[in-house]
Amino acid sequence: MKTLIVGVGGMTNGGKSTLSKSLHRKIPNSCVIAQDSYFKDDSVVPVDSNGFKQYDVLDALHMDKMMSDVDSWRADPDSFLRQRGLNPQPSSTDKVCVLIVEGFLIFNYRPLNDLFDKRYSLEIPYDVCKRRRSSRVYTPPDPPGYFDGYVWPMYLKNRQELGSITSEIFFLDGLKPKEEVLTAVYKDICQEIDRLQEED
Ligand SMILES: Nc1ncnc2c1ncn2[C@@H]1O[C@H](COP(=O)(O)OP(=O)(O)O)[C@@H](O)[C@H]1O
Ligand SMILES: [Mg+2]
Repeated sequence: MKTLIVGVGGMTNGGKSTLSKSLHRKIPNSCVIAQDSYFKDDSVVPVDSNGFKQYDVLDALHMDKMMSDVDSWRADPDSFLRQRGLNPQPSSTDKVCVLIVEGFLIFNYRPLNDLFDKRYSLEIPYDVCKRRRSSRVYTPPDPPGYFDGYVWPMYLKNRQELGSITSEIFFLDGLKPKEEVLTAVYKDICQEIDRLQEED
């Protein structure tokens, strides 16, 4: 059995979860780990000097728990799938198990970033991001001014922090239709799977 770990990163509302779920549906023996499911409880997330909850930092996330889930997939992908109610195909030498890790800070966390075989990042402009975000309901809900006062500045800061590793990231235009984005990434991953299958 072989393994492939794909990172789907990028800004809030770029389309990470949409793309990851669609990839999972198309790729056999795949599963998704989403960073959003590792947020710490609201009561322990501090506020900044403007009174905004500091959700867009690694400290707001249980990264240790997320890493341990990634590690348990790496130790035994089939059993990880079964635990999540998925049905892995029978084992074979050329079987490739694919883990899709998606989230807005996956490339900023070094131990996780080091594990990716492929990195994609969805990018959309400020106005589209703000519009998409405002039409979604978050728990807890975004307070007035949160996008301009916290979310966008933090996105810029977190992106800047990536520095030179951006050269290893394939940037995707999140304005393109969902199907188009999916087709491009799916094709790229299939090529990688084929390459792995040809390796001894
Ligand atoms: N390529 C796209 N074009 C237009 N809208 C999109 C596209 N991808 C996602 N969306 C929409 O944008 C919103 C955010 O998508 P989502 O996948 O949840 O983003 P993320 O997980 O990056 O925050 C959803 O309403 C989704 O339907
Ligand atoms: Mg999401």
